Amino acid sequence: MEPRRGLDAPVYLQLYRRFREAIAAGKLRPGDRVPSIRSLASELHLARGTVELAYQMLTSEGYFEARGPAGTVVSPRLGSLGGTGRTASPKTPSKPVEQSRTVSDEPAPFQFGLPGLDAFPRKTWARLANRSLRVLGAAAMNYPDPAGYEPLRRAVAAYLGISRGVACSHEQVFITAGYRGALELICRTLLRSDDLGWHEDPGYIYTREFLQHIGMRLAPIPVDEEGLNVEAGQRRAPDARFVVVTPTHQCPMGVALSLPRRLALLKWAQRRSAWIIEDDYDSEFRYHGRPLPALKSLDRDERVLYTSTFSKVLFPGLRLGYLVVPEARIGQFREAANHLPGPGSIWPQATVAEFMAEGHFARHLRKMRLLYAQRRNHLVDALTPVFGARLHIAAAQVAGTHVLAMLQGQCSDRDFAAAAQSHGLAIQALSHWRMRGPGPGGVLMGFANISGAEEAMVLTRRLMEATKTV
Ligand SMILES: Cc1ncc(COP(=O)(O)O)c(C=O)c1O
Repeated sequence: MEPRRGLDAPVYLQLYRRFREAIAAGKLRPGDRVPSIRSLASELHLARGTVELAYQMLTSEGYFEARGPAGTVVSPRLGSLGGTGRTASPKTPSKPVEQSRTVSDEPAPFQFGLPGLDAFPRKTWARLANRSLRVLGAAAMNYPDPAGYEPLRRAVAAYLGISRGVACSHEQVFITAGYRGALELICRTLLRSDDLGWHEDPGYIYTREFLQHIGMRLAPIPVDEEGLNVEAGQRRAPDARFVVVTPTHQCPMGVALSLPRRLALLKWAQRRSAWIIEDDYDSEFRYHGRPLPALKSLDRDERVLYTSTFSKVLFPGLRLGYLVVPEARIGQFREAANHLPGPGSIWPQATVAEFMAEGHFARHLRKMRLLYAQRRNHLVDALTPVFGARLHIAAAQVAGTHVLAMLQGQCSDRDFAAAAQSHGLAIQALSHWRMRGPGPGGVLMGFANISGAEEAMVLTRRLMEATKTV
């Protein structure tokens, strides 16, 4: 049977899984030749690019081996590793789906926080990863620097200077195990358990959960069309020790922190010796107007701890992020980093450093910016006729990888999201992200993995079907 559009998984993933299953079941054996991309595409009535993507994934994961003009074969190494295809198959580990906390090894439709995984340049990545492994010398086999791999720290410092207006030396850059790794390093270095901090309300739910989990107290500070309400923060918790803020693209409301508020926040932090933790998680993806500079670029008194992540611009499975610390605190951060697990193995860090140094990073960002703008439009264009006035998407929200659709009428956003989730659609309820009391209901929908107008329409209809009785 031909792979079909409109099923749970995109066609290339259906194809990829079929080959994996055939290998695991021993139907395809190590060394067997598989059809050429062209002939399989024509046989299954698929675009060549679809088959190519499935083959690229199978090759980069070690199932297939490309032999140039001699065609593509099931990797003979699968046999030498362990006899039957099943035991030899490289295993895809299950990983938690961000937000919904379910376990899945495929992106769920509308999943929040995921970049477009289908468009990631796997071939280039695999080549660089191979090369990094070959050229890393004995130093790379020693205990790594807990602040991260130096060439990557240098690449990040250069990138931030040019793209985000953040002037820093590589010594100020700490590579971390994602954004949460950065948060942990900050808390262990500058804060104490039970310290009070401002948290955007609504705000990124995992910041809240993480900080509460490690014993911080959080004061919910409202967000409006100018971002975090700094005045309200000063009224409600004037003696807070820190604030976590998403100034470029407030998560989840999508607004930017206005310049007067930025200046007021910096002034408050300077007066109170408080720390501003800037979470600049997806500033690369803005589809209208000029990119907004980071809050850190205005920080004359070194009160801002700048964090960002490779989860959005590359992929979250990497678990890499970074933190820029004030120059005067480098020693203190180094000391704390010595007692933490740090960013892990050098190999992925070296691969990212190569990816940046060779210009693939900049190219990838350019490509993804265009692609996401299209994918966002596909989703909005599909939602509008199907849901009409029931869902409202603010026109100003043209950034990031998710849309926030406000629910009109009496319907509860939790019921709406629950109904969608029970049909396999990873919609999030806005009220779940609020700390204080009720507010207007809305739903968060990731669009980065919606491959085109057709898929957007199929998913939208599924969503309509799932939620029509709510
Ligand atoms: C607001 C916000 N900050 C940070 C992150 C990245 O976190 P991590 O680096 O742990 O993947 C995300 C990911 O979705 C996010 O939405």
